[in-house]
Amino acid sequence: MPGTKYTLDVSNLHSRNPFKQFDRWLQEAKNDKDIKNPSVMCLTTCSPDCKPSCRMIQLQDFNEKGLLFSTHYESKKAKELNLNPKCSVCFYWDDLDRQVVMNGRVEKISEVDYYSYFSRKPIEEQIKIVVSEQGKILPDKQPMIEKQKKLMKQFEETKQVPLPETWCGYLFIPEEFDFWQGNSDDLDDRLRFRLKRDHENTDLVVQGEGFWVIERLSA
Ligand SMILES: Cc1cc2nc3c(=O)[nH]c(=O)nc-3n(C[C@H](O)[C@H](O)[C@H](O)COP(=O)(O)O)c2cc1C
Repeated sequence: MPGTKYTLDVSNLHSRNPFKQFDRWLQEAKNDKDIKNPSVMCLTTCSPDCKPSCRMIQLQDFNEKGLLFSTHYESKKAKELNLNPKCSVCFYWDDLDRQVVMNGRVEKISEVDYYSYFSRKPIEEQIKIVVSEQGKILPDKQPMIEKQKKLMKQFEETKQVPLPETWCGYLFIPEEFDFWQGNSDDLDDRLRFRLKRDHENTDLVVQGEGFWVIERLSA
């Protein structure tokens, strides 16, 4: 992207812990007024017969345990994740000329934990979730509109909708991070964080925090 002046090197990393490094980039993206959806990521799953599929989803929360997102339990992605929890996510922040790709796996979170996120959403968002039959072929949208109106009326005072049984939260646990930094005046940069392999000779890699090692990749 023209004008981008950032570089990425082990010497200027915010942290050698990839979770902390990602958190810094995410905060910088959130602070950039030209980035409209900093918390949106592309999730790629894979069917048991190895057919990949991807879609954008909203990151709901992030900490050193992983990345939390939510979806319909009968959606294509949920069905695939239940059979094969290995998946990838990708963030792209155009204005900062940055991409982060993470490979890892998901674990379903408890209903109680997910409810604490769901209950903080505005009533309109909660009702959209209740009404959703994600992925179902619909001859007509009208029945959903009717259901939405009915629920808005039913919950307009309490503004608190019970958690629908069909919606659930997943924690994505990254096992590899690939940070890419574009640079308009120079070669682009890429640093990969991965977990150290058993008996690996770490002279060839940079030691990250804990079990992480860091490698420079050609961009
Ligand atoms: C910006 C954006 C954010 C989205 N966030 C979510 C989300 O958090 N959860 C979700 O299930 N779908 C979300 N969607 C819809 C998905 O992209 C997708 O259409 C839907 O989940 C069905 O995917 P599937 O049939 O592959 O499972 C979002 C779409 C966009 C464009």
